[in-house]
Amino acid sequence: MRQYKILGGQRLSGEIAIGGAKNAVLPIIAAACLNQSEVYIHNCPRISDVLDSVEILECIGCSVEFLGNTLKISSSAGLKYDVPDECATKMRSSILFLGALLSREKRANLALPGGCSIGERAIDLHLHGLELMGAKITRTEEKLFCETEGLRGAKINLAFASVGATENLMIAAVKARGETIIENAAREPEIVDLARFLKTLGANIRGAGTKTIVIKGVDRLNSHASHETMPDRIVAGTYLLAAAMTGGEITLANVRPFDLAPFASYLTEMGCKLYPDDNCVSLAAPKRLLAVPRITTKVHPGFPTDMQAQFVAALSIADGQSEVTETIFEERYKHVQELRKMGADIRLTADKKTFITKGVERLHGATVTAHDLRCGAALVLAGLAAEGETLVKDAQYVERGYASLESDLRSLGTEICLVGAGGEAVFGGGALVGGASPLFSDCSLVGMSPRSLDSFRV
Ligand code: UD1
Repeated sequence: MRQYKILGGQRLSGEIAIGGAKNAVLPIIAAACLNQSEVYIHNCPRISDVLDSVEILECIGCSVEFLGNTLKISSSAGLKYDVPDECATKMRSSILFLGALLSREKRANLALPGGCSIGERAIDLHLHGLELMGAKITRTEEKLFCETEGLRGAKINLAFASVGATENLMIAAVKARGETIIENAAREPEIVDLARFLKTLGANIRGAGTKTIVIKGVDRLNSHASHETMPDRIVAGTYLLAAAMTGGEITLANVRPFDLAPFASYLTEMGCKLYPDDNCVSLAAPKRLLAVPRITTKVHPGFPTDMQAQFVAALSIADGQSEVTETIFEERYKHVQELRKMGADIRLTADKKTFITKGVERLHGATVTAHDLRCGAALVLAGLAAEGETLVKDAQYVERGYASLESDLRSLGTEICLVGAGGEAVFGGGALVGGASPLFSDCSLVGMSPRSLDSFRV
């Protein structure tokens, strides 16, 4: 078990660059095995979900290496279509290999995907769409067995604008016979990024970013593709809130301010000043944050569910009462019980969908648990703003989506370190600013993390 150790009360200040987006790069990695090709994915974040995707690629026969921040994937002839269970169950996005493998090998066997426990996370829309495209799917309690005589284009009307289903079907349609039309498609910026990558690979796609995506199947793809991953809008939002909650002032480089629009207006409502520029944004926090009467998560371009927990953490110290409603995932409320341990005054409605927060002046440090990725991020934010010391247990959830959270936050002037199973500090890059602080006196650096990146030929 890994944990973040945080000494709260330091204000964030400085500048930092944002890395590539987890939710963009994961479908791109899966799509990279669509063809016998050499694919270069630049600005690839070194997060554990990427490492787990790389493991899947290697298990099915691709060769993969990190060249700096570029992931090079070489996919040769004849891939295995059986994804090992221990790889597939680690993360939700393993399901994205289904479309790619069915297209490439006409078969795919995959254990039902794992991932963060934030709700049921059904995959019926993925499977139904693939069936309409000519896949035969047998589902047991634990595993999917899929085959096809050859995928064909189809008209698919998604009952819900699922991000993953849209991506899976886009990937499957690239080489399918004929035209695929995805209606009620998800419109997230990561969908547009996937389409950009697929076009580089030679796909014929239009409409990504709108409700209707049209893909004309092509026979051949390019043997070489290169793609610059879009910046992670959720990591950017998390850091903006960290500054907002500590009365700080920061500048984020390598962001696309437009992508932040679905939640930026709430930061302004909370009293923050935002200064967007071409590819950067600065934030200056007020003395005390203000409450926001109501936030409701929605599909893009609505308020993103992936920012919900972090906003609840921020609103827990804002002046006044706020109401936040989660509509996308049924179990995305576990941060509430943890924030309460830190003194937050948050009431859950009976259906556990709405969180009514009366902002307190200050949170206090406590030992809390990250139940999922964004829950963990929210607790780190709360720890930064709290009085005293906070331990966030199960930090490995956070590492699924944040490449260098603790070193980024340290470089912005806060005191945080990642502590390994034996209580030793884990060095994830960047200076351990807190070395002189009593908080870190028991931390001795032990080099790279156990999930070390030196398994890659960097
Ligand atoms: C993606 C993101 C995740 C984000 C979510 C919503 C990745 C790797 N993850 O997840 O960070 O929180 O979008 O923006 O990109 N659903 C069904 N049937 C399906 C598929 C989904 O009922 O076949 C339901 C889910 O149970 C959930 C909702 O639709 O309640 C949203 O899921 P979806 O948009 O598919 O999210 P993910 O692709 O899993």
